[in-house]
Formats: sequence, structure tokens, C-alpha cells
Amino acid sequence: MNRKSTRSYSYQTLPRIEENGRRYCDESYFMPNDETELTRLNIVHQIYLILQEGRLTLAPFTTDSPRILDIGTGPGDWAIEMSAEYPNATIIASDLGVFDSGVAHVSLPNVDFQLADAQSEWTYHEPFDLIHIRGLSGAFNDWNAIYHQAMSHLKPGGFIEVADTDPGGDTITVATGGDDGTPYLQIYAAALRLSGHTSGCPRDLQHLERGALESAGFVDVNVIERTFPIGLWPEDIHEKTLGKMALIALLEGLEAHALRQLTRLAGYTVSGARELCEKVQEEVLAAKKITARVRIVTAQKPNTYAQRRGQVMARAMAKVKILNHKPIGEEEDEDEDDDDYDEEEDDEGEE
Ligand SMILES: C[S@@+](CC[C@H](N)C(=O)[O-])C[C@H]1O[C@@H](n2cnc3c(N)ncnc32)[C@H](O)[C@@H]1O
Repeated sequence: MNRKSTRSYSYQTLPRIEENGRRYCDESYFMPNDETELTRLNIVHQIYLILQEGRLTLAPFTTDSPRILDIGTGPGDWAIEMSAEYPNATIIASDLGVFDSGVAHVSLPNVDFQLADAQSEWTYHEPFDLIHIRGLSGAFNDWNAIYHQAMSHLKPGGFIEVADTDPGGDTITVATGGDDGTPYLQIYAAALRLSGHTSGCPRDLQHLERGALESAGFVDVNVIERTFPIGLWPEDIHEKTLGKMALIALLEGLEAHALRQLTRLAGYTVSGARELCEKVQEEVLAAKKITARVRIVTAQKPNTYAQRRGQVMARAMAKVKILNHKPIGEEEDEDEDDDDYDEEEDDEGEE
């Protein structure tokens, strides 16, 4: 692939890599892009919608004709539904590859599906109101670089929204486990984390820490974390439905998340990796209670000069309020950060 180009799907002859019974879009990304994975992503999309109370985005942009970029769009469910909700939007949905029967093949006037590697230089010509990145944990070796590119391709005041789940359940009650009693789900999750670490592309939620966004210059970082059920254990009917969907997504995704990375990076044979997945599956089906975490972060590119000045003033006023309650002599270094911010602001105000 030309490292600087973004091109429309229809003009491409796309590579397909068949490997151990799964299909992948290239040699580097660890998740398959076959029918099974397509179904799993369709279900995960519905889970996000339930967790977000039907909202496609939690970013509080105000224009009804936003320019939107969806990085790693996958089958394109989010982008397509955004295009219906915002008919005046212009949406670029980009990915390394294409899912054969995903909605990305539907031709819509306001969505442009493009092939692009988000780790290469972004070549979009006009800035965006919203950049959306969901389910990309483990895809990048340098999230800071991704966030810096996002920053420079957002309009002042534009939003970034990043969401991901923990690849392994974070609480589990099970009767079985490995030789030392450790739940297989934990062995599995630890192997995924280790192989992510070995590959240089961490598979965790670190990129969703407030500081990760702030150090790239984003402000008003809003971190939302939800714990959701996996399985049929909840008594509440809505939670049970959610738990059932999450169970299907988890079981469908066990092999998808693990096969390539465990065989390439963690010393597993193909049958060894599949055996671990089967043990996790048995354990999950027998478990009394499993939950998992999802984290959704929205953050804003600092706004126009005047608006940013207002934000700085508001913060300064808040500090004055605090200082008024402090004993004299404890307030010397309080404004150092704000001075730096003002200088940066003056530069960015020229955009
Ligand atoms: C787990 S899927 C998530 C798809 C979609 N965002 C969603 O939430 O349904 C991850 C997607 O990111 C794409 N991807 C992985 N690495 C990428 C990269 N470097 N640049 C662009 N897309 C990438 C994959 O091809 C895959 O379609």
C-alpha cells in the first residue's frame, strides 16, 4: 500500500490471507475480517448502542452537518448509522481492509469508505468535527502519534471519541481453572496482553487513560466506564438480554482475538491456542457470573482563541476561589501550567 494514500474500496484489488481457517486483511493486524468476525462486530455494535442508551456518539458536537472520520471502521455499522442520523454529515470511514458483506458496500451519498493505514501519515484535506476510534486496542504501537494526528486533523473545538473493552472479563466466578486454579479466562487474557506487549501494540485500556489524551493536547477529557454482564445470570430482563449478547460476542471472539497472536508471539501451536479457547469457552458457559468493562472517552481540541481564552479565565477564576481559602504562602507555583498553556494558545489561535 502507498503509505500516504487514501483510496476508495471499489478501485482496489484487496489482498486476502487465509490462515488456519480464518481470513485476514493483511499480515500485520491480528484480528480476522471474515464472516464470523463480521457477525461478532455487528453484535458488539449493538452492545455499545445499549450501553450508550441508544446514542451513537457521546461527543457533544453541535453542528448538524459535521465532518466525521471513523478510523478502523471495520464493517462500517457505526459510520452507516451516523450517516442516517446526520444526513447532512460528511463521513469518511477508513480501514486497512474491507469486510466482504459488510454495510460498507452500500453506496450512500454522505459516506466515503476509504482504505488507509491510520499509522501512516493522514492525508485528509479538510479538518473534522469528530474523529471516532472504537475497538482498536492492540492495533497501534504508538497511540500518542495517533492522537497527535487526530489533533491536527480536527477543527478547533472538534471532538475525539475513543472506546474499547477489556479483552478479558475482569471479574469471574468459576468452579474450574488451570492447574493452579487460575481461571482459564485469566490465563487467556494474560496471554493476549503478553503477546500484545511482545508485538509492541499493547492490548489494554491505557490509551483510554485521561493523561493519554491530555498529553496530546486535548481538553475537557470525559472518561466513562461501564461494567456490563456476560451471560444469562442477571435477573433484570434488559440486563439479561445484554448479557446474552455479550456472551455470544465473547464466545465468537475467543479464537479471533487469540489465534494469530498466540501462535506468532506467545509460542502456542494452532491446536494449543484452540484448546485454550475451548477451555475458556467451557469455563465461561459454566461460570456463575462474569462481567467486563468498557471505557468510552470523549475529549476536545482546544477551541478558537477567544473561546480558549474564556476557558483559561474560567480556570483562573476557579483557582482564585481556591487560593482565597488557602493559608498565605502556599500559593506561589499555582499558575505555572496556565502560563505554558497561554503561549501554546497564541500559536494555535492562528489556524
Ligand atoms: C475490532 S475492529 C473494530 C471495527 C469498528 N471500529 C467497530 O467498532 O465495529 C478493528 C478494525 O480496525 C482496523 N484496523 C486495524 N489496524 C488498523 C490501522 N493501522 N489502520 C486502519 N484500520 C486498522 C481493522 O482492519 C478492523 O476492521
